[in-house]
Amino acid sequence: MSQAKMEDIISLCKRRGFIYQGSDVYGGLSGTWDYGPLGVQLKRNIMNLWWRRFVDERDDMYGVDAAILMNQKVWQASGHVDTFVDPLCEDTVNHRRYRTDHILKDNGVDTDGMTMEQMDAVIAEQGIKSPDGNPLSKSRTFNMMFKTHVGATESEDSISYLRPETAQGIFTDFKNVVDSFYPNLPFGIAQQGKAFRNEIAPRDFVFRSREFEQMEIEYFVDPEHWQEAFDELLAATHEFLAELGLKPEHIHELDVPAEDRAHYSKKTIDIEYDYPIGREELMGIAYRTDFDLMNIQRASGKSMEYTVKGTNTKFVPHVIEPSFGVERALMAVLSGAYREDEQNGEKRVYLALPEHLAPVKFAVSPLLKNKPELVEKAREVYAALTKANPGRVMWDDNGNIGKRYRRQDEIGTPYCVVIDFQTLEDGTVTVRERDTTEQRRVKVEEL
Ligand code: GAP
Repeated sequence: MSQAKMEDIISLCKRRGFIYQGSDVYGGLSGTWDYGPLGVQLKRNIMNLWWRRFVDERDDMYGVDAAILMNQKVWQASGHVDTFVDPLCEDTVNHRRYRTDHILKDNGVDTDGMTMEQMDAVIAEQGIKSPDGNPLSKSRTFNMMFKTHVGATESEDSISYLRPETAQGIFTDFKNVVDSFYPNLPFGIAQQGKAFRNEIAPRDFVFRSREFEQMEIEYFVDPEHWQEAFDELLAATHEFLAELGLKPEHIHELDVPAEDRAHYSKKTIDIEYDYPIGREELMGIAYRTDFDLMNIQRASGKSMEYTVKGTNTKFVPHVIEPSFGVERALMAVLSGAYREDEQNGEKRVYLALPEHLAPVKFAVSPLLKNKPELVEKAREVYAALTKANPGRVMWDDNGNIGKRYRRQDEIGTPYCVVIDFQTLEDGTVTVRERDTTEQRRVKVEEL
């Protein structure tokens, strides 16, 4: 896959109403994206599938939806106020700012495990300049949390942050869920929702955004059994990625070396995907030990201990955390589905989306829109299909039939249903399949 292909996907997303630049009409706001009618449906299909597999179909998972704004103590205790930072350097002439590790990576330097000082040393030794050819400043740390104030007065006490991960909402509700449901260990708490990071250099379409969505689980275990839980959740992750239609040969496990792991993690496996921009992180699974619950216990003075049912055994559970980024899953789905071929000597672009993810499952058209008897019958078929597939059926009578097929191919519609004169005679319609372009006649009831 080439860089050009990323451009093709971005352009298709805009043209066909999947994803637009945020605040587009005012020139945009960097690192923010709006989902159009098809994008929101595709995103929901991915998120709903995740929720079904990881929450609804399991009896060891509890869903929550915590507030985005949280007491600042949450972020002090979690370490985010002090350590949720990226190294930032500046072009000393035009004052543009860059992530130091990105500058090095773009210059072919592997920064894994390097401290900020070591990165600065490499920049000095190799004479690396900014993308505009100017000298770079020494690096400093930059906290990525968006700060705000809650209430009418602005003081140290009113500070809050837009959450940079959904995970902390889960940890702070751990005790509430235990007290309400008294679940057996192991059990998990799952959450989907927005996260915000003031990325120094948002880039690569939705891949690195300032506002994005996460799907996270904190799975609480007896520390003796963390490995089983880790392996089970990793296997469930692979099953989910296969259901997204991602090819196994494009998915890679990276066992993150100790020096590159987050300070709280004893083991992390990153799942990387072969995006058009290269092999990059799609999601990660981390063994977070009891780091977060112990921090909460210390900072709040409230016990986070779990009592094993029917015994006096008490301990603070350890945690396995599978953390998915929705945008990265969506970008993998789109880039994996993007295809170009030739039909009757003409270039065709189509999205080979799995049927259960495609935003539109059926497009319904009368062969000719100026024939009222065809339109009436087509409306009947459209209504029946919509009843069975709410929100997933599109009425499409624009242009000739060839143009409709091209348009539907581009948005990944698996089936185009055409009502013609034969329909009026024998109740069959033409169903044209996206990937093969084959057409067959099917009874309306069989749709
Ligand atoms: N609670 C753990 C955590 O947040 P992370 O590796 O920082 O871990 C988890 O983030 C996932 O969130 C990533 O694997 C990625 O899918 C997604 N993600 C992180 N930063 C992102 C960004 N700026 N834009 C889009 N997705 C992002």
